[in-house]
Amino acid sequence: QHEIYLAGLDGIVPDLPTNLHRLEEVAGARLTPQAHDYVAGSAGAERTARANLAAFDAWKIVPRMLRDVAERDLSATILGTPMPAPIILGPVGVLRIFHEDGELAVARAAKALGVTMTLSTAASTAMEEVAAEAGPRWYQLYWPKDRDLAASLVGRAAASGYSTLVVTLDTCTLAWRPRDLDRAYLPFLRGIGVQNFWSDPVFQKAIGGPVTDANRDLALLHWAANFGNPSLTWDDLAWLRQEWDGPIVLKGIQHAGDARRAVDAGMDGIVVSNHGGRQVDGAIASLDALPAITAEAGGEITVLFDSGVRTGADVAKALALGARAVMIGRPYAYGLGLGGEAGVRHVLRCLMADLDLTLALSGRSTLADVGPDLVTR
Ligand code: FNR
Repeated sequence: QHEIYLAGLDGIVPDLPTNLHRLEEVAGARLTPQAHDYVAGSAGAERTARANLAAFDAWKIVPRMLRDVAERDLSATILGTPMPAPIILGPVGVLRIFHEDGELAVARAAKALGVTMTLSTAASTAMEEVAAEAGPRWYQLYWPKDRDLAASLVGRAAASGYSTLVVTLDTCTLAWRPRDLDRAYLPFLRGIGVQNFWSDPVFQKAIGGPVTDANRDLALLHWAANFGNPSLTWDDLAWLRQEWDGPIVLKGIQHAGDARRAVDAGMDGIVVSNHGGRQVDGAIASLDALPAITAEAGGEITVLFDSGVRTGADVAKALALGARAVMIGRPYAYGLGLGGEAGVRHVLRCLMADLDLTLALSGRSTLADVGPDLVTR
């Protein structure tokens, strides 16, 4: 904030909007139509995507005064990972469709701020390459059908320093996404590749060697056949627990009963998420799912939240309703597309500053001060 107003004295204004809703509009005009529709689009009629945003309007912050908020500290340690603020970059695949530096630009921006990045299984840069440039990092698993391949992916993630495994449960198959269907566009099929698979020894063995121009179609077929595993059940988590020593977080929880099952299965965390409305159109808004889930399991498991976070007030509301931290998806993909590494840094700094000011002006100076009494419906 200070930095921006001071630069303004020299006639300098920010390159990108500081309002992340506005950033989304600017991205609409500047990204390629395909990349834009891929990131902005959601499942079906996009009702859940809209509901995710609208759900924040139903909750209002009730500020308190005269509480000495001169010294503030929003840092937290989540599942052993220290964070400057309760904001995590969620997993977003194929980032090179937005900017040539893709995952590496995001890794550099996050590292510069000490923010944790969650690398997607569907990344367009291999996890070892990203690890070489990244700071604190978690790995997101799309659990493939082939168990040897799943074991290889998580083994590589552990070996390259990803500390928490985020297992996405809501995408056992790709949803009906009309914007992509109308363009017949699936980024994975467009040359940049699914590099965590391409670089995997188990994957390469299955297709008879490294991926080259000659066998790319075979690689894509093998990837498509392995992507997602609709036959998984809660019983399979015991196997995963043996393969991974660190914390495991289940992403895509929307029902309190599933939060209970996650506790029973010995998981360390959950992400209350509907994948930004990209999977089940008509599904409950993610924020609307949060209170019942924290009531059921908030005391026993680390509850994280995503889907629709765009402002500091949004983060504050999710924290007040029991989340320990939030993930963001689209905002940093837009930042990447519009400004590369600097664009991602811009998005993170705006959101962190907005959260800090929102909480200070509401009479809260640490995360311990943020509870249900911050909000009213
Ligand atoms: C995603 N998301 C996602 N999730 C995941 O577990 N693995 C992935 O590879 C991806 N890829 C992905 C691509 C794009 C373009 C988007 C927009 C989203 C979902 C993501 O992690 C997160 O749940 C949502 O993006 C959160 O909603 P917001 O912040 O976009 O509203």
